[in-house]
Amino acid sequence: MTRPISCAPSSTGFLALAALSLFFLLALNGCHHQPALTQQEAAGKHLYMVRCAHCHEDNDLALKKVPPNLHGIFQRPTMPSGTPATDSDVTRVVLAGKGMMPSFAGRFTQDQMAALLAYLRTGLR
Ligand code: HEC
Repeated sequence: MTRPISCAPSSTGFLALAALSLFFLLALNGCHHQPALTQQEAAGKHLYMVRCAHCHEDNDLALKKVPPNLHGIFQRPTMPSGTPATDSDVTRVVLAGKGMMPSFAGRFTQDQMAALLAYLRTGLR
């Protein structure tokens, strides 16, 4: 007794299962469509959280001039003050300070500054 097409149903079943798993994997992945932070961006995130977020997210010093939201600072052509949003201008603000914002001169190595900029460029993920 031979069953010439015996393997057809099971391979179809396997394909359906594979397609279904793929679908669920993609569906689950859909929640985080943003790629993970690179090592450099993650280092910058740490610096941002430690040095900038208490003012720029929480305004913990209750400054009268509320520190501007830095989300998407590089997505617009200019910073809140109207200065162009470029790496060198943002670096200058951070190093020189501005109004109630303190100067961070000497606080960051070049690598740390580059990491901070890389993180700001992610739009603060
Ligand atoms: C003590 C609070 C404080 C800390 C800490 C702080 N900032 Fe600020 N920041 C401010 C205030 C206040 C302003 C608004 C300055 C103004 O326009 O007078 C500002 C403005 C800025 C601007 C916009 C400048 C412009 O020209 O519009 C950038 C960019 C910025 N900060 C980046 C940072 C980064 C990056 C850090 C962390 C390294 C940081 N700040 C830490 C208070 C702070």
